[in-house]
Amino acid sequence: MERVIAMDQMNNAAEETIRVIHADLPVNATLHLWLKAVSPETPGSLSLHSVNGKFGEVQAINAEEHSFRIYQVFGGGPIELRYDSRDTTVSVAYWFTASDVLETGITILHTSPANQPPDLAASYHFRPPFGWMNDPNGFGRFGGRPHLFYQHYSHGRMWNNMHWGHAVSSDYLRWRHMPVFLFPSEDLTARPDKRGGAFSGSAIPLSNGPGIRVFFTEKVNGRIPEQEIQMTATSADLFTAGEASVLLAQRPAGEGLSPDFRDPYVFKGPDGLWKMLLGSQSEEGGVILLYDTDDPQAASGWTYRGKLLVDSRYRTTALECPCLLPIDGEATDPKTRWALIYGLMHSLDEKTGRRNLTMVDVGWFDGKTFSREFSRELDFAADNYAFQAFTDGQVPVGIGWLGNWIDTGPTVDFPSAMTLPRTLRLENGQLLTPPIGTAESLRSHILDRTRLAAGNVVTFLNGAVEILFDLAEAGLPFELTLDHPDVPLAVAQGEAGLFIHYGGDEAATPRYLAEGARVSRLRIFLDYGSIEVFADGGRYAGTKRIEGFEPVRSARLIAGDGAIISATIWALRL
Ligand code: FRU
Repeated sequence: MERVIAMDQMNNAAEETIRVIHADLPVNATLHLWLKAVSPETPGSLSLHSVNGKFGEVQAINAEEHSFRIYQVFGGGPIELRYDSRDTTVSVAYWFTASDVLETGITILHTSPANQPPDLAASYHFRPPFGWMNDPNGFGRFGGRPHLFYQHYSHGRMWNNMHWGHAVSSDYLRWRHMPVFLFPSEDLTARPDKRGGAFSGSAIPLSNGPGIRVFFTEKVNGRIPEQEIQMTATSADLFTAGEASVLLAQRPAGEGLSPDFRDPYVFKGPDGLWKMLLGSQSEEGGVILLYDTDDPQAASGWTYRGKLLVDSRYRTTALECPCLLPIDGEATDPKTRWALIYGLMHSLDEKTGRRNLTMVDVGWFDGKTFSREFSRELDFAADNYAFQAFTDGQVPVGIGWLGNWIDTGPTVDFPSAMTLPRTLRLENGQLLTPPIGTAESLRSHILDRTRLAAGNVVTFLNGAVEILFDLAEAGLPFELTLDHPDVPLAVAQGEAGLFIHYGGDEAATPRYLAEGARVSRLRIFLDYGSIEVFADGGRYAGTKRIEGFEPVRSARLIAGDGAIISATIWALRL
């Protein structure tokens, strides 16, 4: 009797620890699973069951990091994934059908408390479906669709050994999540020891087929002689990467470079050759290195051509995530102006206290040298980092990471988003970076056309809002107060210029100021966790991450008599 009770108790205890993930699969579904052993003594295991009973099992002996497993399920129908939480943890499970994943995306079955994204149904900025995200990578149109890859760690919301996440869109706003695209080398997938992984890079279409070639930096902290080397891989189906191979195993000799050697950006030069930019640092300051190759496949023959740029402004260390694209004509036309965009790692603007600035230089690129016409900051609020752009047909399109390393790091839980995609345009000698045209498709309905202009408080339905207003004259002072439950927030124009007040009074540092700006047209996007200010058609862009995910609740615009010509507020919806 006693024995029976003991057995029952044991069974009950076992049942309570059994976790079941349900899925209803079409035929030929591919499952991606990441599991980990709870202790090194007992392997972790996950079994697959259909109505006919158990039909498969995957195991993992590693107790330090989740192991990646693929399981192909041929017959469709309902299945269960079962594991015992006493010996197994599962971080991510999703499925997709390889035949049409570009159209249908992945279906997430399971995430864990450690990597769950914030639950923000009305939010319209791109976020990863699980885990950490930083820089956009491999941004381009391939096989007819915009693709966005990004720096990613799957098993937590903190930076760790880097993978490439991936998503596909048709309008740059509504994204379908794709299977994880690049994995760190085997050594780095074994432990979450923050030593490196598949760092930032870019992608080009294959010239001899429908696929792509990606370029990325493989980082292994402390590796001798090079911590950072350049790798390449191809993908014929646009969602699985073939085996990566080494493209550049060493920094160029004799340049006195720091170990920084990363973020390959590959593009077609004016001379028809593939060019590559890389970020590094020398004794003179941060540098951008230029390579090229006459291999039409861009797979070999990469030759160092020299430093394209040296920059020591704002006490920068390395330059990161360089990007170069023609913005007002064909790459082959010598009159065409190019935009050279790069991040100033560790930089500090003493005047405003902002860090990690992103610069954009406009000038001419003849394939070997860049002649600068002017240089300015890409964004006055500095939460638009690692901006990557390419020419989509005739239109330059770019996107940045809506974050700043000053606010995060490998020990900070930091769910982040990408900025709204932007276009780059020259007008009257000025660079404009307005939101991409399709951003208008986010407009769901008008919330207000009278009250804001009249100085009244306008309450929002949720945190997804676009505010537009015109001033009677450029430079007229105004203050748009935004009621956020946790952070004092406003957009204002005064003597000093246009600024975003964030979390303090005017004297607070850092200050998000477009110095000397005297603008007349404002377009402001609010979302859960961000504000993006575009003034005068994108002549000034200010992107600021807002801590947390509380929505802005209302707005009030204060300006002089007759200063506001018109004001409109839109509710936005993806
Ligand atoms: C920029 C950066 C890149 C690097 C990546 C690593 O944000 O530091 O230089 O490739 O992040 O995640």
